[in-house]
Amino acid sequence: MLQDSVIPMIHLNIISLTQLCALFGSQMKERRSGSILNVGSIAGNQPTSYFASYAASKSYVLNYSLALRHELSPYNVHVTCVQPGYIRTAFDDNCNVVSEKYKKFSHKNGMTALAVAKCCVSSVLHKRSYVRAGLTNKIAAFVSGLIPRNFLAWILSISVRSMTK
Ligand SMILES: NC(=O)c1ccc[n+]([C@@H]2O[C@H](COP(=O)([O-])OP(=O)(O)OC[C@H]3O[C@@H](n4cnc5c(N)ncnc54)[C@H](OP(=O)(O)O)[C@@H]3O)[C@@H](O)[C@H]2O)c1
Repeated sequence: MLQDSVIPMIHLNIISLTQLCALFGSQMKERRSGSILNVGSIAGNQPTSYFASYAASKSYVLNYSLALRHELSPYNVHVTCVQPGYIRTAFDDNCNVVSEKYKKFSHKNGMTALAVAKCCVSSVLHKRSYVRAGLTNKIAAFVSGLIPRNFLAWILSISVRSMTK
């Protein structure tokens, strides 16, 4: 069954992001300068059961940003997508995560918001196309890219289920 929060989340992560990029992107294009930073997630690289819509919305953020980058770069407008892993914010509570085991895991393995913000600023200044925040997330994203998708979906469903039980 669809949770009440799913459609607003898709609206925020996909529709609002697209509208904002169109609005500010066209102004930047006109003045021939600007940078856009879109916040994705490493979840956007993989089919993540129990966060299925969220992860899929972040796949949109990555692919949309990569494509838009090529549309705007001839006008000196640079688009970057940052893909954080866990960050120590109120995210889990705002997502209605109830499992204390999961919350402890994400907190223990999370980066601080400041570290992610520094990564964001640096990636924009270096005009990167996309950046995975943090070494562990870089390695995890690299490894998950080597695993066949069906198998990866299965592994993730088991690991998330075991953490949220
Ligand atoms: N935390 C993580 O582990 C993690 C991992 C990967 C990616 N991310 C991404 O990082 C970004 C920031 O997340 P966070 O960790 O800072 O989460 P958070 O602590 O839950 O904060 C969410 C932020 O989004 C705003 N927001 C929520 N609904 C909104 C709406 N309908 N319109 C406008 N603003 C809205 C909230 O504003 P109010 O405070 O005014 O409610 C709040 O500032 C998100 O894009 C998230 O997907 C987070």
